[in-house]
Amino acid sequence: MLTRRKLLDLVGKGLVMAGPAGALVTGAGVARASSLAEEHADPEKPKQSSSTAAAVENYSRRPPRFNDGRDWFFQKRFGLFTHWGIYSVGGWYEQHMNAKEMTRAEYMPFMRKFNPVKFDPDAWLDLAEQTGMEYVTFTTKHIDGFCMWNTRETSYNIMNTPYGKDTLKMLADACHRRNFPLCLYHSIMDEHNPIYPTAGRPYELPAPAPGDEPDEEKYLAFVKRQVQELCTNYGEIHGFWWDAKVLERKDPSFNALIRSLQPKAVINDRGFDSGDYSTPERDWDNSVNTELYFSKPVEACQSVGYQSWGYRVDEDYYTGAHLIGSIQKVLAKGGNYLLNVGPKPDGTICLEATTILQQIGKWYKAVKESLVDVEPASMMTDNRDVLLTQRGDTLYVHLFKEQEISSVYLHPIATLPRRATLLNTGEGVECDVLTLPRLAQDKVNRCLRLKNLPVSGGAGLVVKLEFEHLLARESGRGDAGFFVDRNHPACLTAGAPRPATSGKACRGTLSPHTTSSPRS
Ligand code: GLC
Repeated sequence: MLTRRKLLDLVGKGLVMAGPAGALVTGAGVARASSLAEEHADPEKPKQSSSTAAAVENYSRRPPRFNDGRDWFFQKRFGLFTHWGIYSVGGWYEQHMNAKEMTRAEYMPFMRKFNPVKFDPDAWLDLAEQTGMEYVTFTTKHIDGFCMWNTRETSYNIMNTPYGKDTLKMLADACHRRNFPLCLYHSIMDEHNPIYPTAGRPYELPAPAPGDEPDEEKYLAFVKRQVQELCTNYGEIHGFWWDAKVLERKDPSFNALIRSLQPKAVINDRGFDSGDYSTPERDWDNSVNTELYFSKPVEACQSVGYQSWGYRVDEDYYTGAHLIGSIQKVLAKGGNYLLNVGPKPDGTICLEATTILQQIGKWYKAVKESLVDVEPASMMTDNRDVLLTQRGDTLYVHLFKEQEISSVYLHPIATLPRRATLLNTGEGVECDVLTLPRLAQDKVNRCLRLKNLPVSGGAGLVVKLEFEHLLARESGRGDAGFFVDRNHPACLTAGAPRPATSGKACRGTLSPHTTSSPRS
């Protein structure tokens, strides 16, 4: 096993540096490590070569930008997902029809009853904004094939319900009026259309219904015409969220069509080609846990309901604390987060979901500065129970999961910040730098400790640490906020070399430059 000690030796030799998930980064990362070694290492150490320094510029802790209109996706990173369709009438599951093995005729009453007279898109967007969300992704069609817009391609659409109004148009108008990006969810699977090539694959009905005429080519032409409608008739669209593609086929012409009509639209990875970003779902994709930051665009999705994405009368809801931890984890790693609610058949969002979103909104408002316009910086500590983000000389410590103790150790960071604040309350946080028994086996045994944190409320705490000089600012996008502190040569530290501050304590809101004077 590669110990921290050995790793340090290697870093010192400019051979490797710590990267995501404790992995070793080679290539550009090597250049970063060696150039930093030159800038800050003990002067007695032999100088490292800077021949690969230019490669450093290519190494970033953030996903590469698209450098076009799609880059809105990197600014607005928390969105509202809605799963809304005639299945809400059943109040059970968005996949009601296939899960209960219903025939189309048996499912039809849902359409006849769908009359969302209380639908008010501004109320949805108000709630999204209160939660801190900055875009919305709306289900135009789920696997039941029912279309929530005025499509010319099938009569199985919203205009033929008792409601008779184009719900997508209403939402799109509100979004455009409020400058709120709108993305469209669209299922490729279709349980209603008799030309869909049903073959009993996941999501599909067991077999074509009597009288169906499955024809994959014809069906895909139908999908394309609907995509054309969606990307033409509803003004600017900021994203296209494909789902339920069980067909084998790859075909870049679908995304090419979307891109030609809607250049700002980001496209997910569930369609006919790999798209722009990945979509880890619920807690199922372990990459969300193992990566320290995302080097490619990611939008994690989750529902407030444990069982269903659509409205469920007897739903088991996640706790606000669970969702807050999940959101915090993904945002702190540089991903986007799409949180789903299933609106009711009357068009409103139920009290339980509203309450959860309000709880999240309150938390998010307090800690937002730690999650936007920051870079992931978790590689600066070995403590895997927290995540770090960074802006300039400020580090934010995210307690994204339940903590075992009320202190946080940030080894190998061993420098006091000039100020430490709990963003959730605005109160100061006690901190000190000390030698810890449990780290004594390791030479890197001094570290910054944050003390007496109110951890009993579960995830979501964020401590803001303001340092005098946080090296990563000087090192631009490089990974290495580490260097050897001259006062403690065996320590890696996050602050610039300067007179020893170790062993002194600081309590929260010290004024600048007074960190080294203990306050009791
Ligand atoms: C799951 C569900 C599907 C839902 C999707 C959203 O795949 O099966 O119904 O639309 O998640 O990500």
